[in-house]
Amino acid sequence: MTETRLLLGPQDLRAGVRRIAAELSAAYDDGVLLVAVLKGSVPFLADLVRAMTVVPEVDFLAISTYAPGTGRVRLVKDLETDICGRDVVVVEDVVDTGLTLTYLLGELARREPRSLEACVLLDKAARRIVPVPLRFVGFELADEFVVGYGLDVGERYRNLGELLVADPEALRGARDAYVQALFGR
Ligand code: IMP
Repeated sequence: MTETRLLLGPQDLRAGVRRIAAELSAAYDDGVLLVAVLKGSVPFLADLVRAMTVVPEVDFLAISTYAPGTGRVRLVKDLETDICGRDVVVVEDVVDTGLTLTYLLGELARREPRSLEACVLLDKAARRIVPVPLRFVGFELADEFVVGYGLDVGERYRNLGELLVADPEALRGARDAYVQALFGR
């Protein structure tokens, strides 16, 4: 059976999310527009907004990667909100090379928000190719591949309540490699 290792359990994640929610609430006492990047950030966003003590607005965008590692991405779902003059925080699950977030921040900056910041649950700082400013960070990760709490391989494992270190090669060969171990089927 393929091995996984628990990295962050539900209590760890809750503590990290609460800390970021407090930071966001203190920084934006007039409210803020959270722009979540589909799909990986959905569990994080859902927990974050419920832990905030100011009322955020939320909107979503989705991107697709042309070729992994090239940083070439395109918007496949745009925002419904006009962000001109708004305080905007982009909510991402994980920043790895930084290419995706750099593209997104550039795209949103052109729309002239009043302020624009990034909030990420997981920061793989050691993997960075492009420096990208992260104002709100949940956890620093080593160079390890993780699944769960929104993060997937081939659309699998987003539903886990914890974050697991996984072997991406095992999962690319057999995307159900962990299903039996994790769900007993
Ligand atoms: P970047 O452009 O290299 O920073 O990549 C960011 C994107 O890569 C994230 O939004 C995820 O979709 C994906 N990604 C990076 N690391 C992981 C991981 O450990 N597990 C699952 N997806 C990841």
